Amino acid sequence: MTKKKKILVIQKVHDKGMELIKNHPNFIVDVTDDVSEENLKKKIVDCDGVSVRIAKLSGEVMNEAKNLKIVSRHGVGYDNIDLKNAKERDIKIAITANANAVTVSEHVMFNLLNISKRKDLFDKTVRDGNFKDRNKLPKTIELWNKNFLIVGFGRIGQSLIKRCLGFEMNVYVYDPYVSKEKVESMEGKKVENLEETIKSMDVISLHMPLTEKTKNLINYELLKKMKKNCIIINAARGGIINETDLDKALNENLIFGAGIDVFEKEPPDENNPLLKNDKVFLSPHTAAFTEECMTRMGIETIQNIIDFFEKKLDKSKIVKL
Ligand SMILES: NC(=O)c1ccc[n+]([C@@H]2O[C@H](COP(=O)([O-])OP(=O)(O)OC[C@H]3O[C@@H](n4cnc5c(N)ncnc54)[C@H](O)[C@@H]3O)[C@@H](O)[C@H]2O)c1
Repeated sequence: MTKKKKILVIQKVHDKGMELIKNHPNFIVDVTDDVSEENLKKKIVDCDGVSVRIAKLSGEVMNEAKNLKIVSRHGVGYDNIDLKNAKERDIKIAITANANAVTVSEHVMFNLLNISKRKDLFDKTVRDGNFKDRNKLPKTIELWNKNFLIVGFGRIGQSLIKRCLGFEMNVYVYDPYVSKEKVESMEGKKVENLEETIKSMDVISLHMPLTEKTKNLINYELLKKMKKNCIIINAARGGIINETDLDKALNENLIFGAGIDVFEKEPPDENNPLLKNDKVFLSPHTAAFTEECMTRMGIETIQNIIDFFEKKLDKSKIVKL
């Protein structure tokens, strides 16, 4: 009989996922909610596999696990894992590629509708007993026939375009790594120059990874070029929009509003200016937090580990390092 593989689950996933491995004959499972480096260093020592949500998995932690073969991410981003360490040691990183595209793209539409239809202001007006002031309230914005730019046309971008077209918006796509044919086959218009394109966009939504290239991509210089009614949404990764620049641009009325699900630092510092800016619609990195999606992600995270050790993990789910 082959030796049982030890798996560390860093922050429990959905029960349906945990059930897959709890009584599995080939695995021993340990679960920890303490994501401190000190605790993880101890817990990971004799592990063959790890599942991780948004906790940081540093090279120092990974080095403690001499047998580590796979890190399974609960999600599709993997910037919380030391990729250099994984590459050097040939540790595979798996993602839940099939679980959350629809959920995040729905969250983008939820942000867009809330901001453009001034949900918070209208709701407060009625609750505060000011219904009679309805004619004095600022007007809302229609989505019909507006220009929507999707930056990053992967799983989420491609799910989002369907929702935008449902609202009869004109959809433009900036993604240097996706062909014109692919974009046009989904009724989008591929654009090559981000700086030029943003000048005529009413909505800009970001769906690419955080890399050296995309860090601070949306800065004051670019925000200044956007239309005054522009709404920008970041449900990708914190740091792609420079938060200080965004706050400044909103305060100077350079753009209309922003939807922010992800932050440069999570949780954000108390003095993060965006927390006090009422032109920003905020959520705590919960774009994928529907009941349905959490179930799918929990199952896929654990199934990826099982499939890996059974040598049947689909290659498309392994990150190319
Ligand atoms: N908020 C959340 O809870 C949440 C949930 C899921 C995913 N995400 C994030 O959403 C992002 C997209 O996820 P996905 O599953 O669609 O990923 P994906 O890998 O399927 O697609 C990413 C796309 O970005 C493109 N891209 C890379 N660099 C680019 C650049 N400089 N400019 C424009 N496009 C570029 C790639 O070509 C690719 O098509 C990731 O950052 C991921 O971490 C966030």
